[in-house]
Amino acid sequence: MNTLAKLRLHDLAPPQDDFLGAVLDGLGRPHKSLPCKFFYDEAGSALFDAICDTPEYYPTRTEIDILAAAAGEIADLAGRGGALVEYGSGSSRKTRLLLDALAPTVYMPIDISREHMLSACHTLAADYPALHLMAVCADYTRPLRLPTVARGGQRRLAFFPGSSIGNFAPLEALRFLKNVAQHLAADDGLLIGVDLKKDPAILNAAYNDAAGVTAAFNRNLLTRCNRELGADFDLDAFTHKAFYNQAAGRIEMHLESTREQAVHVGGRRFTFARGETIHTENSYKYQPDEFRHLATQAGFEPLRTWTDAQHLFGVLYLRRR
Ligand SMILES: C[S@@+](CC[C@H](N)C(=O)[O-])C[C@H]1O[C@@H](n2cnc3c(N)ncnc32)[C@H](O)[C@@H]1O
Repeated sequence: MNTLAKLRLHDLAPPQDDFLGAVLDGLGRPHKSLPCKFFYDEAGSALFDAICDTPEYYPTRTEIDILAAAAGEIADLAGRGGALVEYGSGSSRKTRLLLDALAPTVYMPIDISREHMLSACHTLAADYPALHLMAVCADYTRPLRLPTVARGGQRRLAFFPGSSIGNFAPLEALRFLKNVAQHLAADDGLLIGVDLKKDPAILNAAYNDAAGVTAAFNRNLLTRCNRELGADFDLDAFTHKAFYNQAAGRIEMHLESTREQAVHVGGRRFTFARGETIHTENSYKYQPDEFRHLATQAGFEPLRTWTDAQHLFGVLYLRRR
């Protein structure tokens, strides 16, 4: 069978001037920042996969273990068949557990990193020949119209793993969850992975792995600015900095300037003091109750929360009301 006949791409990728605009805006702010969605060019996506395999980065293996143990129950709640829609699908590694348990007819991965997503889809198409793959390259932080899928009376399960919800500040997370709710009908489900509040030492280690993979991931953003926007960042003059901000309940990731310097991008000049940072990512952590409250405000009913023995990570099944 020609498996590729079952793969369609809906390309809603943001234009390149989106990146330039975001960089000029972010570097022009009093506290310089860049949106974390720009981490994910092909090199960034590969580096994220490598982060998942570092011993310090517990979220991936913990979430996989939770999903593997709960897969049957998830299928009972979500219903078998139907469509599986995944936000930020990356390598679709965790997805396989759901494809095996739910046997959906359609899988719709949504990701901003087109080539990486398509490569994952080609492998899935070979491994699941009966599955219809409708890949969507898009920025999910923006209002998004998904391609129409005939429901045939079957339910849709939205999947948002990887604790990517933590990249949004709580109010943005609420807005995102409301957008997801609009992609669903009453009784459809959202399965979401949430990183839990815990001993800051565990969190700090997870974002500062000894092999320096997270540092390389963070600095790749500057490589991308140089390559795609003709910027002149000196990569040796910025270091990775990540720490848990207890008051805000989030990991913050920054790139710190090691000296006073100027950088040019898109015809503009940006100056940096020694020690000044570009804030590149937040990763908010939640107590299960805090997250259930947020989900309820967004129009979902939390039906089930699974966690690991050490309460490091939570996976929640939310029913769209
Ligand atoms: C933290 S990784 C998680 C990957 C995978 N879901 C997992 O759990 O291991 C985030 C994924 O979301 C994608 N992504 C990040 N921001 C995005 C955005 N604004 N719109 C669409 N995809 C995005 C990235 O390309 C990446 O594949």
